[in-house]
Amino acid sequence: PADQLVLVDRQGPVTVLTLNRPKALNALSSPLFVQLNNELDKAAQDDQVKCIVLTGGEKVFAAGADIKEMKDKNFAEVYRSNFLGSWARVTSFRKPIVGAVSGYALGGGCELAMMCDILLASPTAIFGQPEITLGIIPGAGGTQRLTKIVGKPIAMDMVLTGRKIDAKEAERMGLVSRVVWEEGKSVVQEAVALAKKIGGFGAVAVQAGKEAVDAANELPLSEGLRLERRLFQQLFATADQKEGMAAFAEKRKPAFKDE
Ligand code: HXC
Repeated sequence: PADQLVLVDRQGPVTVLTLNRPKALNALSSPLFVQLNNELDKAAQDDQVKCIVLTGGEKVFAAGADIKEMKDKNFAEVYRSNFLGSWARVTSFRKPIVGAVSGYALGGGCELAMMCDILLASPTAIFGQPEITLGIIPGAGGTQRLTKIVGKPIAMDMVLTGRKIDAKEAERMGLVSRVVWEEGKSVVQEAVALAKKIGGFGAVAVQAGKEAVDAANELPLSEGLRLERRLFQQLFATADQKEGMAAFAEKRKPAFKDE
């Protein structure tokens, strides 16, 4: 249906969420985010869902926040309603999110891509923070996450000039985890395969791995290392640690139970 702004496709342990406003290049409107957050809430509750793939499909990821929705808003309105504050739901989601970017990931689209835990891109991917051309600046991590990922010189270049980055450059600067260069290979299918692989591991260890890596952005090194060691030690209280190590010793495949 036309009002389905996020398509949901369940593939085994993976839920594929596809942004679905093709005529507006998947511009991220408030109603779209309500649906996206709603699907994340459902996936968070469902123990059978082990991993998310977030994509815009094979043509475009997202050309940013919806400019037509924003253009007439005033300060009091956006401040009081915490306009776009609900985007943060993506970053409080505890299962892994694999992003798959084809085509434009601009402005809020680039910021949403950077919220993903692992980011795959197709050779057509184009990243950028063009907000400066609209008289604003990025508002969902385009000055903070981007700077942590690529460093100040490139972040300043992108944020103050709006310069767009292609897949090759994005790969070189570490903005994406991998580019799927092989001709005929779909970035979405590659993302699903990767997500299924993660879905086959023990969910407790996967969640701990995500928590620990995320902590590296928030904590001083000594605190981060302490958290990492505690999480590592705690995993010895799980059945999956016993199973994983027993399976290795017995030269068989482990059967994880997420406990
Ligand atoms: C609303 C958008 C849109 C957007 C594209 N469209 N981007 N609508 N918000 N961000 C609409 C166009 O108006 C057009 O609608 C249709 O999608 C197709 O776009 P075209 O411009 O005709 O396509 P093309 O010529 O191929 O150019 C593609 C493009 C361009 C280079 C990506 O659309 C563009 O520059 N878009 C804006 C990119 C941008 O500035 N993003 C940052 C937004 S601010 P019609 O009805 O005419 O067919 C932001 C702030 C984030 O994201 C803050 C987060 C808290």
